[in-house]
Amino acid sequence: MRQRVWAVLISGRGSNLSALLDYPDEISISIVVSSKPGVDGLAKARRAGIPTLILDRRIDWSALTVTLRSRGVTHICLAGFMRIVPPAFVAEWRGQIVNLHPSLLPKYPGLESIRVAFEADDDLGVTVHEVDEGVDTGRALLQKTSLKKPRAAGYSLALAEFTVHVTEQRCLTRVVRALSSGGSSR
Ligand code: GAR
Repeated sequence: MRQRVWAVLISGRGSNLSALLDYPDEISISIVVSSKPGVDGLAKARRAGIPTLILDRRIDWSALTVTLRSRGVTHICLAGFMRIVPPAFVAEWRGQIVNLHPSLLPKYPGLESIRVAFEADDDLGVTVHEVDEGVDTGRALLQKTSLKKPRAAGYSLALAEFTVHVTEQRCLTRVVRALSSGGSSR
């Protein structure tokens, strides 16, 4: 089997990137790409010795593909990447991009998903899914509930968010490890 080599795309803190970096023997990350300069996730990548790239505000998606291919990237992981990926880029990498989303999709796509679900006193959870042309619409690879109706159960939003973040790291590492070894994530 050809080795799976990942680019991890981030926009912020990089806690999910950190979780992936905990498996250096199983997950090969050749580059970390950030849509923002100065974010903690970039420092985490550098500390791990992974090359980084900061995207311009106006992203040249074709150039990004060329850069990733030149670094041997076969798969892309969107780990808190807060930019919409355009259809041409999805087509270029079809079946090889996964996204992490902090809700039980198809509920609560888009932004502020944890807060909106919490305020609705709905169940909280995580979906790791393939990326298609829609926003958070691709085929689910793994979905886990973190908390059932936490507001009624007396959780604060901060504690509920923390619980979702723990679930995220478990789900994302499970999927990326499985895909890295050529298996299915289920
Ligand atoms: C995570 O909660 C992730 O699910 C969310 O951004 C956060 C990134 O955290 N992604 C989305 O909302 C994508 N729609 P991190 O930078 O600490 O990994």
